[in-house]
Amino acid sequence: MERTKPAVQGNSHLPFGDQQDAPYYGWDILSVKQFSLEDLTYIYAVAHELREIVARIGGFDLLKGKILANLFYEPSTRTSSSFTAAMERLGGSVIPINEVTYSSVSKGESLPDTVRTLECYADVIVLRHPKVGAAQEAADFARKPVINAGDGVGEHPTQALLDLFTIFEELGGVEGKTVTLLGDLKNGRTVHSLARLVSLYDVKINYVAPEILKMPPEIMQEIGARGVAQTEFEELDAVISETDVLYVTRVQKERFEDEAEYEQVRGQYVVDPALMKAAKEKMIVMHPLPRVGEISMELDSDPRAAYFRQMEYGLYTRMALLALVLGKA
Ligand code: NCD
Repeated sequence: MERTKPAVQGNSHLPFGDQQDAPYYGWDILSVKQFSLEDLTYIYAVAHELREIVARIGGFDLLKGKILANLFYEPSTRTSSSFTAAMERLGGSVIPINEVTYSSVSKGESLPDTVRTLECYADVIVLRHPKVGAAQEAADFARKPVINAGDGVGEHPTQALLDLFTIFEELGGVEGKTVTLLGDLKNGRTVHSLARLVSLYDVKINYVAPEILKMPPEIMQEIGARGVAQTEFEELDAVISETDVLYVTRVQKERFEDEAEYEQVRGQYVVDPALMKAAKEKMIVMHPLPRVGEISMELDSDPRAAYFRQMEYGLYTRMALLALVLGKA
């Protein structure tokens, strides 16, 4: 995968002060496939440092004068607001297009044209779109970095990066751990990205899903080729006791063509205190959120419930990514 934009490298109107030789300068972030172990170590070192800076002083002007365009064709709470917070804590600002129906998209403007418009005003574009491959398409047309904030059922690379950062910060690492992915593994883009990302390490992956929502075989093949052990289950009871990271997902209602089919599988799994009795004392429960019943609220006070802390790790991870692609870290 192309990591840098040739047009950016040769760009003649780069603002003064950018480190064009910085390692991630001008990168698009389209898929987790573009990251090596070395990249992850670097990104997490930056994210960890930013976490400490935010705790101490809230932020600093690393990206002063920089502008991010937040272009969302699908609903979002966490991803869009954490990118906004990340940019603003680093002294930059944001053009929010969270509801494309109020933009020229409703007049029929194409994605390439919208992206080419926004990059006239912004330095980086964060894009969420219902179509698989939309971020790649946007990146093909854009001179400025494009960050994929979810392309349909494809990928959600920044979510997986923050998920893995959560695992590192909470459990001290992922090596040797058993990661159990639960729920809608067919349509959930976060698990498509996360399964690929953790497979860079020595892990064991369990997939727990109803028959019609299983992890796509092509992704399992990709991961299997790396020598990672993967096992599929329909029941969570079978694996809860060996699990170090339980990653719960919502059944992606909006991806179903047949409402009756959705009704059949919704509510099949509920992680609650009773189930957690069988889980290790030192493990974490994660969820990209929103949850719609897969994790009972009674679990929220359990120290193993990491899903609220996970959102906060997202802030530091996205601060790191923005600093990196803008050549400042
Ligand atoms: C996820 C998404 O949009 O894919 N949300 C998020 O970014 N935190 C998960 C979901 O919608 O279920």
